This record gives sequence, structure tokens and C-alpha cells, in this order.
Amino acid sequence: MNKLATDFSWQKFSDTAELDQALATQLAQELRRDLERRDAACLALSGGGTPKGMFHLLSQQALPWQRVSLTLVDERWVPREHADSNEAMLRSNLLQNAASDAHFIGLKTAHAQAAEGVEEAASRIAQIARPFTAVVLGMGSDGHCASWFPGAENLAQLLDPNRSELVAATQPPKAPHARMTLSLSAVLASQQIIIHITGTEKKAVLEEAISKNYPIAAVLQQRQTPVSIWWAPND
Ligand code: 6PG
Repeated sequence: MNKLATDFSWQKFSDTAELDQALATQLAQELRRDLERRDAACLALSGGGTPKGMFHLLSQQALPWQRVSLTLVDERWVPREHADSNEAMLRSNLLQNAASDAHFIGLKTAHAQAAEGVEEAASRIAQIARPFTAVVLGMGSDGHCASWFPGAENLAQLLDPNRSELVAATQPPKAPHARMTLSLSAVLASQQIIIHITGTEKKAVLEEAISKNYPIAAVLQQRQTPVSIWWAPND
């Protein structure tokens, strides 16, 4: 199925400030809706730099955060206080204000190597109320999302929708740090997937993702979980 970028719901905004506010509002609304139907809700969120502004705005949204779990789609295998830690970024930008009542479930364990921490990380994710309310994916300019990097030795395993593993360790060929990442099958166990990107370069990468068979194409080509793309040009 060679779907085109035009097959997807693109939410386009004039700048990142408008995008961040709209996405924070949307995620809060999805959490409230989900919590009307079940006792607990959960977001699985990406790290990196793109979501920081949206996280700050989401943290201010009024909702029963004590019934919400927050987890990460992937983590760099660095100490939790390290500048590159996704957990540190999420804690300082989202686990604040009203959202400080949420439950954070991280992927970083005390193990020296990511591969040694897989079992513990998987057991943490397995205890979360799924399907996720939403999964938010960023994307790199190489077409990776989560820590599904082109050329990674176990990329095929990560993207095999029939495999049951929830998480896996992986070593990006170029990007720094070993990673712990949700698998495709874990990401698809969500009510929806939101791709959150900014800039004309990433828009072009996403538009050619399927033809270039970038890792994010695995999300675009599946039919199990609805996907929307939220984008603004860089300011
Ligand atoms: C990570 C993220 C990763 C991120 C992209 C985009 O750990 O880096 O989870 O998948 O979403 O690399 O990162 P930027 O938002 O910083 O461009």
C-alpha cells in the first residue's frame, strides 16, 4: 500500500507557538475523554527538542492528572540527570504545574547496559493501562521515530508488527547513546498516533518517507491505529 502524505490528516499551523498550544489542548481533551470511559489514561511521548514547548503548555491543563500515566517512546541510555536524558526533559517540562500529579513511568533502569534493562523496562510498560490514549512521535531528518534508526542492527525486529516484545535496546549507527525504545507493536497499541514535527525539511522527509522506506513509514503504512500529522514551519 503506497499511501501518500496527502492520505493523512495534516494539522498545519502558522508557527510553533500555535502548534504547541493546539496540540497541548488536543492531548488534554483526549485524556479527559478517555478518563470518562476508564479509570486510567496514558500518553507515550517522544523526547528530543520539539515537544518542550508543548509539554510546558500541557502541564498547565486542568484534568485529573492523578489518573494519568506518562511514559516515553524511547530513552537515551544515560543517567537520569544527564542533559540528553528524555526523562529529565519530560520531568522539567511536563511533570510540572497541574501535571505534577501524573505518574511518570520511565524506561531508564539502573543497569549499566540498555540490553540488561529490557526485561525491567518491558515489565513497567506492561503494567500501564493500554491501549495508550495517544502516542506522540517526533521524527529525525533521517526519517527515524522513537529510536528506530536507519541501519540499526535490530531495526527489522523493532518494526515487525507481529513480534510481541514491548521494548528493545538498540544502538543507533550514528546518533549518540544506546537506546531503549518501544517497538512498533507497542506503539500501535494506542487509540491514536500523533506525529509532531516542525520545519520544511522534516515535512519534506515525511512526505517521501514511504517512497524512501524510512523507519517512520512503518507507522504511515499500517491500518491498525489512526495517524495524524501536526506541523508548523520553524519560526
Ligand atoms: C529522541 C526522540 C526522537 C525524536 C527525534 C526528533 O530520543 O531523540 O524520541 O525520536 O523524536 O529524534 O528529535 P527533535 O525533536 O530533537 O528534532
